[in-house]
Amino acid sequence: MDRIDNSTSLDSTISYMEDTAHFMNYAQGSTIAAEDRERFRELISQICQNENALRMKGFRQHGSVSTYQHCIRVAWRSFCLNLQLHAGSDECALVRGAFLHDYYLYDWHNAENKGHATNHPCIAEQNAAIDFDLSDKERNIIAAHMWPLPLTRISTSREGWIVCLADKLCSLYETLFLR
Ligand SMILES: [Fe+2]
Ligand SMILES: [Fe+2]
Repeated sequence: MDRIDNSTSLDSTISYMEDTAHFMNYAQGSTIAAEDRERFRELISQICQNENALRMKGFRQHGSVSTYQHCIRVAWRSFCLNLQLHAGSDECALVRGAFLHDYYLYDWHNAENKGHATNHPCIAEQNAAIDFDLSDKERNIIAAHMWPLPLTRISTSREGWIVCLADKLCSLYETLFLR
């Protein structure tokens, strides 16, 4: 785990997002405007300091990346994709759904968590609905993010499709390069 797992301060979280932002800008060959970056910071700051959300710092996701870091990365990548594709998504629902998409609150490497790949979106949705006042769209973003696993649990919004894509891109990157 890297440095943010040793701290629960907002500053350390923001600092991590800035580091992630730097990579994402480089990888996508474009620059996200300062006002867009600040809007993302405001949106994610509203949920990333929640007590249970901070617990995700203690769970490993891919390689050396915590679930918390992964969720911030997916939220940022979703935010950037929406801008770059001119998709016109509801940014609040997009960032909230993206950050909470893996809010299952356990270590999936634990052998007790059989069926994790299929089941965890529903567990994340249920957990998030307890801690946050979620819209139906936000619930669907979380529940459908693993599509096509299963084929029948499908996104019903553009925000959901963006998070579905961003999660796969970030997971591949983390697995290959952040071990
Ligand atoms: Fe997931
Ligand atoms: Fe994920």
